[in-house]
Amino acid sequence: MKGWEPLKGGESDTSLYRRGDVFAKCCPPEGVPELRDERDRAEWLAGTAIPSAAVVDWVESADGACLMTTAVPGVPGDSLAVEDHAGAMAGLGRAVRELHSLTDCPFERPLASVVALAEDVVRRGAVNPAFLTDEWRKLEPAELLARVVAERPYAESLQELAVCHGDLCLPNVIFDPSTLEVTGLIDLGRLGISDRYIDLALATIQIHDEWSADPAPFLASYGLPDPDQRRLEFHRMLDPLTWG
Ligand SMILES: Nc1ncnc2c1ncn2[C@@H]1O[C@H](COP(=O)(O)OP(=O)(O)O)[C@@H](O)[C@H]1O
Ligand SMILES: [Mg+2]
Repeated sequence: MKGWEPLKGGESDTSLYRRGDVFAKCCPPEGVPELRDERDRAEWLAGTAIPSAAVVDWVESADGACLMTTAVPGVPGDSLAVEDHAGAMAGLGRAVRELHSLTDCPFERPLASVVALAEDVVRRGAVNPAFLTDEWRKLEPAELLARVVAERPYAESLQELAVCHGDLCLPNVIFDPSTLEVTGLIDLGRLGISDRYIDLALATIQIHDEWSADPAPFLASYGLPDPDQRRLEFHRMLDPLTWG
């Protein structure tokens, strides 16, 4: 792409470019439906009070598609300085609380569809071991899936539906490095109405693993200081089975 600087990073099969204040996320033809989902969700979130990246263009051809979004000012959560982690947890808690308070979201991500996706990934032998903990890597993905399936009735009976980000890892949250408020939630392909524990499970395990920090300040700021650990564990085991 002429005039565009290719960027490294990201976890998906997309390529990322930047030109000035615009990011372009591009995918091959087989990735178009997924990127289109991300575009639609980004357009919807931009119409709410939650800070995010605005969609500026969408280009589709036989070679694939590119989603152009405005650059969110600030620093992604995985690049913040250690001394900023505590303050950023407070900002993140407030932002996630506001996200979960939104109404009238047209996108749904029911647990049944997430489990079906995990079943498909496991059946294809496509689980990425890099997303598993040391303990889980010792087990067959089918065994992990069996545990998820066994725990599903518990998690499902208690689920609390809210507008969720769906992939609330630290690189997908941009912070103002001086105020430590969230300046934008990005990478919205999985945004939709789901169990709010999906976001809480990912955010807390990321804070623990990537920042080596106790997520208590995040949970306090979010307003759920004592979450159900069993539901957190359920979603932490399910999520890595859904990529691949
Ligand atoms: N609009 C944007 N504003 C600021 N940073 C962005 C933007 N889009 C992407 N990035 C940066 O690029 C990284 C990868 O983009 P992302 O959309 O999360 O791709 P992936 O799906 O591969 O994770 C992000 O973690 C962030 O650092
Ligand atoms: Mg991302």
